[in-house]
Amino acid sequence: MPEEKSKVDMEKIVSLCKRRGFIFPSSEIYGGLSSCWDYGPLGVELKRNIKNAWWRAVVQERDDMVGLDAGIMMHPLIWVASGHVEGFSDPLVECKVCHLRWRATDLTDTSCPDCSGELTEPRLFNLMFKTFMGPVEDEAAVVYLRPETAQGIFVNFDNVLASSRKKLPFGIAQIGKAFRNEITTGNFIFRTREFEQMEIEYFVKPGTDKQWFDYWVQERFNWYLNLGIKRENLRLRQHSKDELAHYAKDCYDIEYLFPMGWAELEGIANRGDFDLVQHSKCSGKDLSYFDEESGERYVPYVIEPSAGVDRSALAFLIDAYDEEVVEGETRVVLHLHRELAPIKVAILPLSRNERLVPLAREVYAELRRHFMTQYDDAQSIGRRYRRQDEIGTPFCITVDFQSLEDGEVTIRERDSMAQIRLPIKELVKTLQAKLCGEPFDTQPLWATRRSAG
Ligand code: GAP
Repeated sequence: MPEEKSKVDMEKIVSLCKRRGFIFPSSEIYGGLSSCWDYGPLGVELKRNIKNAWWRAVVQERDDMVGLDAGIMMHPLIWVASGHVEGFSDPLVECKVCHLRWRATDLTDTSCPDCSGELTEPRLFNLMFKTFMGPVEDEAAVVYLRPETAQGIFVNFDNVLASSRKKLPFGIAQIGKAFRNEITTGNFIFRTREFEQMEIEYFVKPGTDKQWFDYWVQERFNWYLNLGIKRENLRLRQHSKDELAHYAKDCYDIEYLFPMGWAELEGIANRGDFDLVQHSKCSGKDLSYFDEESGERYVPYVIEPSAGVDRSALAFLIDAYDEEVVEGETRVVLHLHRELAPIKVAILPLSRNERLVPLAREVYAELRRHFMTQYDDAQSIGRRYRRQDEIGTPFCITVDFQSLEDGEVTIRERDSMAQIRLPIKELVKTLQAKLCGEPFDTQPLWATRRSAG
């Protein structure tokens, strides 16, 4: 059976991202830095929107969740307790001819994929980046760049519990950078050495963990669907026993159909009491919980939904990418969910005519107070619509000569390319409703009022 792959070509996504300012190769003027990428003006908006959508869903709209922002560098014993110093390693093999290094588990053959040379026996390679804290570069000064944000949450469990007065079940959410000295990277921003994670540690009473595990698998799967990922491009895969991480009792991956095939987008693990027990042992601090309802004291179990910001951004871009023929020309369009679109509204004066510009600028000044708005007056209106389609802008507003007479403008919707005219004074309210999901062809409120009166 042929291996399933997304029909979208990764090269097209990489090229669009560079051309339109989503993502650039890092340090490009110096020849680049392997597997490192910089987010440009549109990429930073997309990433921020993904993180905001996640934060709203898992913190803001819930009573049982709070946030945290722990440091990237933490006490080195944390990584001993968590098992990372001992076991966060990949098997590395090296080609005896060209000396390229490979992750043994990525290879299907026993020879070098590049030159067919003979490979060394696998040896374990720890993926944590090390640095030194303070002026002396010796073993005692070693600290690690965190390879996951999770441990910052576990070591603050007691602080958060005491200060927020939460009761079980409750969770702590965190977004932040993580670093892994991956042996093989690639597929654009899919696997890099510096990336961002969005992690939840959800603390529950032992015995209720299976129920909460199932709940979070479903909840997280739906989050991607609600933000527009196509159902057929998303699937769940349970880890086999020999694949489970050392801390996990059970784990599901949410997988996305990337151009290179199905691959992990997010993992949801049942970590049991592994982390809190380990940190209690190694720090000497009791991290158990007193359950006032049952009068029992126990170490909570933890359900961990762990997502990557960069991987999500890649999946959202690939899923939104489309090419369609409109009037004999190819239109490239990103059907990004309105919540994720970097620019929400573009103001396009019909021309640079001096009578039009003041009104167009006035509309721009008003809208930018409410939405991420772009003003574009270069080239034909058709070219400008295409430019906005290509970056996924849901709405374009055209200011024309008629606008000077009747105070109305045209709104064009990206996906249907349908247009409606409406008064400038109703723009903010109408756009707010449309950006919240009101269908584009629904009569705006003002129109009903006007026809009624
Ligand atoms: N705390 C659990 C944990 O870190 P993980 O499966 O190793 O679990 C969670 O990572 C998520 O972080 C992955 O599903 C992926 O989205 C993202 N991720 C992990 N390694 C990555 C890398 N090298 N580059 C980009 N994203 C990565």
